[in-house]
Amino acid sequence: MTCRFRCGDACAHEVPNTSDNPYFGDILSGTFSRRGALRAGALGTLVATVGVTGAAVPAAADSGRGSSSGHGYRDGLGFTPVAPNSADALTVAAGYVSSVVVRWGDPVLPDAPTFDFDRQTAAAQAKQFGYNCDFVTFFPLGRDRGLLWVNHEYTDENLMFRGWTTGDTAPLEQIKIGLAAHGGSIVEVERVGHSGQWKLVTRGRRRYNRRITAQTRMAFSGPAAGSALLTTAADRRGTTVYGTLNNCAGGTTPWQTVLTGEENWNQYFVGGNGVPEAQKTYLTRYGISTTTAIPSGNRRFDRVEERFDLAKHPQEINRFGWIVEVDPFDPDSTPVKRTALGRFAHEAATTTLTRDGRVAVYMGDDGRFEYIYKFVSKDRYIPGFDRHNRDLLDEGTLYVATFTGDSPAAEIDGSGTLPKDGAFDGAGTWIPLVSGDKSFVPGMTAQEVLVYTRVAADKVGATKMDRPEDIERNPVNGAVYVALTNNTNRTAAQVDEVNPRTANRHGHILEIVERKNDAGATSFGWSLPLVCGDPADPSTYFGGYDKTKVSPISCPDNVTFDAQGNLWISTDGNALGKNDGLFAMPLAGSERGHVRQFLTVPFGAETCGPLITGDQLSVFVAVQHPGEITGATPDNPSSHWPDGGAAQPRPSVAVAWHKQGKKIGS
Ligand code: FEO
Ligand code: CA
Ligand code: CA
Ligand code: CA
Repeated sequence: MTCRFRCGDACAHEVPNTSDNPYFGDILSGTFSRRGALRAGALGTLVATVGVTGAAVPAAADSGRGSSSGHGYRDGLGFTPVAPNSADALTVAAGYVSSVVVRWGDPVLPDAPTFDFDRQTAAAQAKQFGYNCDFVTFFPLGRDRGLLWVNHEYTDENLMFRGWTTGDTAPLEQIKIGLAAHGGSIVEVERVGHSGQWKLVTRGRRRYNRRITAQTRMAFSGPAAGSALLTTAADRRGTTVYGTLNNCAGGTTPWQTVLTGEENWNQYFVGGNGVPEAQKTYLTRYGISTTTAIPSGNRRFDRVEERFDLAKHPQEINRFGWIVEVDPFDPDSTPVKRTALGRFAHEAATTTLTRDGRVAVYMGDDGRFEYIYKFVSKDRYIPGFDRHNRDLLDEGTLYVATFTGDSPAAEIDGSGTLPKDGAFDGAGTWIPLVSGDKSFVPGMTAQEVLVYTRVAADKVGATKMDRPEDIERNPVNGAVYVALTNNTNRTAAQVDEVNPRTANRHGHILEIVERKNDAGATSFGWSLPLVCGDPADPSTYFGGYDKTKVSPISCPDNVTFDAQGNLWISTDGNALGKNDGLFAMPLAGSERGHVRQFLTVPFGAETCGPLITGDQLSVFVAVQHPGEITGATPDNPSSHWPDGGAAQPRPSVAVAWHKQGKKIGS
C-alpha cells in the first residue's frame, strides 16, 4: 500500500536511470584527498575553529533549525533510548511528553468546517490541514507564538474514503478532495504556558494561516521560465502553473521563506503512451510509462482536470518537479517555482551561505541510483535587503556530485566490511551543469538542462547513489549530512565506496566536508559515519562506537541538528520490522556513532520533518501515514492514532518536550 500511493509503485518498475555513466564518477580534476584530515581528532579542531570564531563558517541558514553554538562538541545527550516496538502510539524517551499539534482535517482557515470523516468535501479540505504531513519548519513570532509550515506529500485514498478501490471509479468529489489534501499548510501556533509544548491557535483572525493545494496559482521564475518546454494550451507563455504535488522535504531561506520540494510528481499523470515520440525518452528517464494509457493505481486527477492527461497536454508534466518558494508571512503571495534549481524528484532544499556570502542550496533526487545536487547563487545575500535576496535563487550555477573512494575497489566487496584503511571515505567533485543561459552539457541547451536535469547529470557522469533524501548542513561543524535511505537494487557489480553494500536495505548517512569548509567549493571530502541496520548485523557501522550499546536504525529519511551539532535522524520504512522513529547521534569525540532512539511513531507511520526549535525546548515531528499497511481500510483500520478508541488514523504534527523544561536530548 505504501508504495502504491506514495511513489506510484516505483520499486515495482524498472529503475529509470539506465545511463551507462560509471558507478564511480571518474572526473576528478580539482579534488583533494580527505584522507586523515577530518577523522574524529581533526574534526574536533575544525569544530573548535568554527565554534569559537562563529563566523568561520556561516551558520546553516535554516532558521529554527538550531543556531550556531560556541560550545564545540559537548554532545549533551543524556536520555535513555526508547526500545524498538510496534505500539500504536507516539512513544517518547523517559522524562519527555508529547502532544498532537495539528491533525489532518483540523481547521487552517478560520471559516473551515469541523472535520467529519464520513462527510468530507473538497471545499472543506481546501480550508483544513491536508493529508500526509512531511517537512515541518517553524518561524518564531516572538517567544510564545510562531508559524508552522508543513508539506502535505500525498494522499492515501483507501484510508481516507470508505470503500475506495480505484481512481477509475471513485466519485469525482473524492478526487477533488485528493487534490485539495496535497500541497502545504501554514498555521499559527502558540506555546502552552512556559513549556516546550505548542498548540494550534484556534481563535481570532490567524492572518497568516493558509492552505496551498494542487490547484493554487503559482509562477515560474529563473532561466526556464517562459521556455517553450513549459508552455501548454492553458499557458502559452510558460509562466503560470496551478498547484504543487508530492511535497516531501524542503528548507528555509535566510530571508524567511519556505522552499518545498516536488518529489514523486510523476505518478499523477496518465496518457504517457500518447506523447510525441521525441518526448518519450525524457518521460522514461523520470519514471513515467510511455506504453500504458492509465498506469494502475493512478489517482485519476485527469478525470477532474484534463491537464493531467499527457496525451492531451504533453508538457503539463514539465511544470512539476521543481523547488517551490513560498512566503509564509504574506498569505496573498504567489508561490514561485524556481527553475534555476533544476527538475527532478526533489527531496530537500537546504540553504546555507558560502564563505563569500552567496547562497548554496543542497538537494537530493530521491530515486534508486539518482544524484545529489547543489545550487550556488551568482550574487551575495545581503541581510535585510529582501527585495534583492528574493531573486537570488533565479541566477546561479547548478552542480551535480561525483564521488570517488580512497580504498582499492577490491576492498569494497558489498558486504559492508570496512576497507583496510578503516573507513568508507574519499573525495568528490561538484560538476557544473548549467549557469543562467550557459549550458555545460554538450548537446543540451540551458533550458533543457534545467527541465531534463536527470538527463544532463547522466551525461556528465554523476555518481549513482542509494536514494538521496534529506540533506542538511551542521550549524556547528559546517559539514553536510545526507540521508541515503536504501537501495535494494544495488548489485555486487555496482557497489562503490560511497554506496558500499549490495541490496542496501537499511541505508546509510553520508558526511560531506566541502573544501575549506566552504559551501561554494567545487570539491569535497566525504565519509560514511553511519551504515544503518541491526547493530548485530556485521554489515553495519556506527562510527566506530561499541555496537552493543546503540539503537538499531533503518532507512534514514530526514535529518536535523541540535545546538550541540548532534545529528538527529528520522526514519521511513524501518526494514527491521518495528515502528519508525527519531534518533540522535553525536558526530565527534568518544560518543561519535552512539545512536539512541528518542521516539517511536505509531504503527504504520513514518517519521518526518524533525525540527528542534532554536530554544532547544521542543522537537516537532510529522507523523505521516499512521496505519498505512497492506489491507488496512476505514472499515478495518490498523491504527487509531491520534484520537484513540475506534477513530480513524489521522496524519498529524506532534511536539515533544521535557517535563522539567530541559533541552531536547538531555
Ligand atoms: Fe518523500 Fe523521499 O521521501
Ligand atoms: Ca577508505
Ligand atoms: Ca523523505
Ligand atoms: Ca519518506
